[in-house]
Amino acid sequence: MRLETLILAAGKGTRMRSKLPKVLHKVGGKAMLQHVIDAAKQAGSEREVVVIGSGAQLVEQTIAGVEFVLQEEQLGTGHAVLSAKENFAESEGTVLILCGDTPLLTSKLLKNFRAAHENSNCAATVLTAKMPDATGYGRIIREEDGTFKKIVEEKDANELERKIREVNAGAYCFDVRKLFGALEKVKNDNAQGEYYLPDVLTILKDAGEKVGAFTAEYADETLGINSRVQLAAADRIFRMKKNHELMDSGVTIIDPNTTFIDYDVQIGQDTIIYPNTYIEGNTVIGEDCAIGPNIRFTDMKVGNKVTAQFSYCHEAEICDGVTLGPYVHIRPGTTIGENVKIGNFVEIKNSNVGEGSKLPHLQYIGDTDMGSGVNVGCGSVTCNYDGKQKFRTTIGDNAFIGCNTNLVAPVTVEEGAYIAAGSTITKDVPKDNLAVARARQTNISVWNDKRK
Ligand code: UD1
Ligand code: CA
Repeated sequence: MRLETLILAAGKGTRMRSKLPKVLHKVGGKAMLQHVIDAAKQAGSEREVVVIGSGAQLVEQTIAGVEFVLQEEQLGTGHAVLSAKENFAESEGTVLILCGDTPLLTSKLLKNFRAAHENSNCAATVLTAKMPDATGYGRIIREEDGTFKKIVEEKDANELERKIREVNAGAYCFDVRKLFGALEKVKNDNAQGEYYLPDVLTILKDAGEKVGAFTAEYADETLGINSRVQLAAADRIFRMKKNHELMDSGVTIIDPNTTFIDYDVQIGQDTIIYPNTYIEGNTVIGEDCAIGPNIRFTDMKVGNKVTAQFSYCHEAEICDGVTLGPYVHIRPGTTIGENVKIGNFVEIKNSNVGEGSKLPHLQYIGDTDMGSGVNVGCGSVTCNYDGKQKFRTTIGDNAFIGCNTNLVAPVTVEEGAYIAAGSTITKDVPKDNLAVARARQTNISVWNDKRK
């Protein structure tokens, strides 16, 4: 049977107290709504329609690969589904309805849920979960024989109903043809004055249709995020799961509690991740690396056998065998060649550093193309900016840049050239030459006599 998905993401998210639409808040480095969309796609959904309203423009700009429909006024989850009626006019089969604020849903759970729905010939099936703390959720009321009876929202529930731990996870499978007819009959005579989607289930049941309730095996996967406290809890669960996946694939994580690895990150076998480390975006790390402690990598491409500690690197590439840190900042557009050594307090921006070059301490290298085997002395700086424009510096293979050199760009130091310490280089240095560009030293022999 064909599967289409409708995702509700128009709500204000009042309880987040945020300028950002709730569904764009991130879990594991990815927007909650994107998690839900990805889970649906992986579960076999062939089309996703997202209901937007609050912050609609921003949601539309951020999320790709789905259809959007606008719910002008947010009058409740039932009303949200109704606003997508036209989008499903031609549809047949099952429509999966999900909330944009349940980011931990897995495709495996959705597949099982859908199969249970389709195998039972129900007109509708609701996903339920047994929550240790059911606060804020709609409660599942079952008939004496255990079949589904109705859902009561917390604000409408009596004391006894509030004690129920089985909750509405906010995910539903419907026979799409039966959904919209029943939806027209939903009223808003409840504590919140909203049109509740769960009421459709009772309406269908009262009309003699079969309505099922499928319980998720792991309640965590159905957590709904209404507040920042819940957001942090979901993020923790998500990251722990990611850490476990990586450890199961052969990565050592010394302290999973202080290791924060985003959704899309890939790490090779036998790499060790030390504590207080953040690996973000679409970073890829090779095998046999030692990363951390205290590393932040964002959108990095890292080879094999790389060692890095106490540093921040973003949108750059580090090749095999590089040693990096402590206190290194690698900025966008940089490629660090194989076996390069970068030591303490070094910043490199928009530059290429060739194989085996050494930048051991206190350098700023910007807009530079450096060959292989170059040795850059302590405190050397590329002067790449004249206040208006940026210029490039070129350094040939095996050049030796003495300590405290200023390379005033645009400038070229050719292969094998040698620069005396303390030089300010404003002219190109030819191959194998020695450049000395500093004031000559004068020793005054009678100095102490004079002072006396
Ligand atoms: C809802 C369910 C509750 C369930 C819980 C699961 C209803 C009435 N209640 O409660 O039974 O236990 O989810 O997490 O459905 N939305 C719209 N338009 C609206 C209102 C909401 O698109 O007019 C969207 C929101 O953006 C959100 C989702 O629907 O993604 C759920 O809305 P929310 O207000 O969070 O509902 P809950 O109170 O959590
Ligand atoms: Ca919610």
